[in-house]
Formats: sequence, structure tokens, C-alpha cells
Amino acid sequence: MMMLKYRTSLANMPSYDVVERDWRIKVNANECNMNLPPIVEERVMARLSHVAFNRYPNEEIDDLKEQIAKNFSLQKENILIGNGSSEIIEKLFYCFGGRAHKIVYPQPSFSMYKIYAKSAEAVGIPVDLEEDYSLDADKFVTAVLENKAAMAILCTPNNPTGNAISLADIEYIAQNIDCAFVIDEAYIEFHGQSAAELLSRYPRMIIARTFSKAYGLAAARVGYMLAAAPIVEMVGKAFMPYHMDVLSLVTADIVYQMRHEYVPRIQMMIAERKRMYGELMKLKSLRVYPSETNFILVKYEKAQQLNSYFESLGIGVRSFGDAPRLEDCLRISMGTREENDSWYKAAQNFIGGEAL
Ligand SMILES: Cc1ncc(COP(=O)(O)O)c(C=O)c1O
Repeated sequence: MMMLKYRTSLANMPSYDVVERDWRIKVNANECNMNLPPIVEERVMARLSHVAFNRYPNEEIDDLKEQIAKNFSLQKENILIGNGSSEIIEKLFYCFGGRAHKIVYPQPSFSMYKIYAKSAEAVGIPVDLEEDYSLDADKFVTAVLENKAAMAILCTPNNPTGNAISLADIEYIAQNIDCAFVIDEAYIEFHGQSAAELLSRYPRMIIARTFSKAYGLAAARVGYMLAAAPIVEMVGKAFMPYHMDVLSLVTADIVYQMRHEYVPRIQMMIAERKRMYGELMKLKSLRVYPSETNFILVKYEKAQQLNSYFESLGIGVRSFGDAPRLEDCLRISMGTREENDSWYKAAQNFIGGEAL
């Protein structure tokens, strides 16, 4: 093997292990199952046709920040834009990480927290969720205080379990911890109760949001962060100059301007989730977890075989292998009604034994 002097921490770093294929039905990444609404697409295409490709991004980032700030009754200085919320979250781990700094996160939750903690050379402290995947707020607070953590992160509604943490619990945690407190709200539009209203009272609170899920803009990679101005200023130092490209910025700007166009489709995705939850509950050998997102987590003793069966039919769902607390679990994102009927029928066939 070629010997190169990589950074020491890289060798033990896990990779983001999603199996991608040209799926017939792709319900493995919690994406939106529809492309841009035609009226939004028209505006985006028109705007893209007069981008100054020869110029570095300039006012486009401020335009988007101003729009977002206005919606939350905040100032532009409270907003940071990133390449997906991934970039924001990764930078937050970097900014509050470093040797000996501890970062507390729930387990199971978004698998990247563990990886970002490693790459930031921080000490990741996972706090186990309860048997039903609910969060014990006191246990979380104790872990933060006992470890003198530099940062705590919660994901609500939580990926991959689907459940949300109540605003009362979030507020209780905010009142009792003394470090940066990040709330990852990647799926909040499917739930509705954002912690953004708590920001003005809890200045250590940071909210991460994305355009990738409810707004179906995963391809453009745009996310944003809401926080007190001094936090935005410090964290902003970790980003490269001109880190956001104009194509994504103007696209997100139009999507945000036209976000009312997304209300019916978000409702549709929620309705599909409710419908599929009811259907899955009919399959007695599955444990189905309640969800406030655009996906559903199920536990089934033959999850790996069911996953292989799905794969053989060109259906891609998310399997977690032997990830802690997710043994025998599959996460299925909501597709179109037809796609949902299709994977459900496959699950029904498999569980009914017809496919064995
Ligand atoms: C909980 C959570 N946070 C953040 C992200 C990152 O999303 P993006 O980088 O597309 O904004 C995801 C994506 O799946 C997620 O599930």
C-alpha cells in the first residue's frame, strides 16, 4: 500500500456508509420525492440565465440572509449560510471541538455527529436514548455537566428514529446547561414546533436548518444557522471565503421567496407518512416507530433479509447494519403515493412469506 503521511485521526474515521445505486424506488435518504414545483422551477431557470459566472459571489449571500432573518424577526448578523446544514454542523463541531473538548449527542441520532466529533478531534459523548427512543432530558443535562462539555447537539425530530423532543424539554435543557447548544432541525417543517422562538431567551442556543428536505433542494446543498451575532461571527471564521456558490444561493433565494408553494406538498408528505404508519402497523411482525418527519423507522427480526429483498426489486431503503441501538432497523423515506404502495406491497409479500 502507498505510504502517505495522512493526518493521524483519519485512519480510524468511519466513512458515511450509504449504498447508492440507480434505485427504481429511492427511499433511503429522506429526500423530497418531488422536484421543484413548476412555477418555482420557471423562476429559478430565469434567474440562473443571468448569473455573472465570471464573478465571485457578492450580494447573493446577503439577500438570502436578509430574507431568512426577516422571517424569524432576526437580523442578518444572526444568520449563517452553509453548503447544506452538513457544512454548518461540521463547522460547529470544529469550532467547539479540538483536543479534550467534549461534545454530547444522543444515540441513536444522525450518524454524522460521531464522525464530525472524530474529525474535529473532539471527544464524542453519546447519550443513549430510552428503549422507545425518547430522550431523558435529565440524563442529557447530567452528561453535559459531568463532562464539562463544550457543545451539546440534539436533533429534533430525530433522524433516524422520527420522534420529536418537546419544546418544554429543549427549554429545560437550555436552562440547565452552560455550553453551546445546537438544535438540528433538518426535519422541522414536517413537525412544526421549532425551537427558534427560544433563541432570544437562550443566547447559547444555535439552530441548524436545511433546504434539502421539505424544500426538496438537496442537489443545491444549502442550509442555514440561526444564532446570537457573536456566535455567528466566531463560527463564520471557520468557513472558506466565497464558500457558497451563486447558483445555489439564487436558487435557495427563490425557493425561500416562494415557500408558500411548498405548503400543500409538505402537507401531502405528512399525509403519506400518516397513511404509511397506519399501513405498517398492520404488519404485526414489525415494530413501527411514530414519526414527525418524512420517514418511518421499523424494527423487524428479519430486517437484513427484507432489505436484500427490497434491493432485489430495485427498492433502496436505509439499513443500519450493526449501528448501536439500531440493530434490525430499516428507515424508509416517504416516496410518492405509488412508490409507497409499491414498497409496502413488497414488504407485505415478504412478511407474508410469499417471497421466501
Ligand atoms: C438530522 C440531519 N441533519 C443534517 C442533515 C444534512 O442535511 P443537508 O446537508 O443536506 O442540509 C441531514 C441529512 O440527512 C440530517 O438527517
